[in-house]
Amino acid sequence: IFADAQQASISVAQSIRDLILEKQKHNKTAVLGLATGSTPTRVYEELVRMHQEEGLSFANVATFNLDEYYPMQPDSLQSYVRFMNEYLFDHIDIKRENIHIPDGLLDVSEINAFCQSYEEKITKLGGLDIQILGIGRTGHIGFNEPGSQASSRTRLISLDKITRVDAASDFFSEENVPRRALTMGVGTIIDAKKVILMAWGEGKSRIIHKAVEGEITDMVPATFLQNHPDTLVIVDEAAAAELT
Ligand code: F6R
Repeated sequence: IFADAQQASISVAQSIRDLILEKQKHNKTAVLGLATGSTPTRVYEELVRMHQEEGLSFANVATFNLDEYYPMQPDSLQSYVRFMNEYLFDHIDIKRENIHIPDGLLDVSEINAFCQSYEEKITKLGGLDIQILGIGRTGHIGFNEPGSQASSRTRLISLDKITRVDAASDFFSEENVPRRALTMGVGTIIDAKKVILMAWGEGKSRIIHKAVEGEITDMVPATFLQNHPDTLVIVDEAAAAELT
């Protein structure tokens, strides 16, 4: 529990930096699972600062984003491709071919093969070293909404009503929010060697309490992280308010 989101985010960025430096020493690739949304933005700002001011290189980094709306044009305002470029990728020296984001342009007939190949690419690189996560009010991680099984893999899902309401301001109205998304599965996330779940603000306090202290259930997919051997939950005081 940190005093505020800024300090917490710096600590998450430091964990990522330490992984990158450790991998560099051994000439290996650091494999990062990344999230979008309001929660990780300060982490990305700090990583950009580390690159610009401290010379941290991302040349040995590969990234896999959790999710993308479906369908979605990569250059549209709400696209996670655009988000990642704006917050991180355009400002660091990552190789473009090392960036992976679920493709919102796929034809329906291509989705299964794409999802399978997304999983295979992660496995081929040795798995995710660190997966960072935010959490939705439904308890979703990635876009694994209530009902998602612990064994679920990368796939096309239907977004929960609450998630679409929460996204409405980004799309200027709920009507415009896509009904579906591509997301890594709970199983994909849980296979990561380390998971860092972040939450800031009072609005997340109820779901953080359920995720951390509630019974493990597919009705709150984040509870599956309770069984993960190396998950760190990083919250500010406000998001920690309902923890007992
Ligand atoms: C985003 C993602 C989602 C968000 C969650 C919280 O890639 O996978 O699970 O982390 O919806 O969103 P924010 O951070 O905007 O509150």
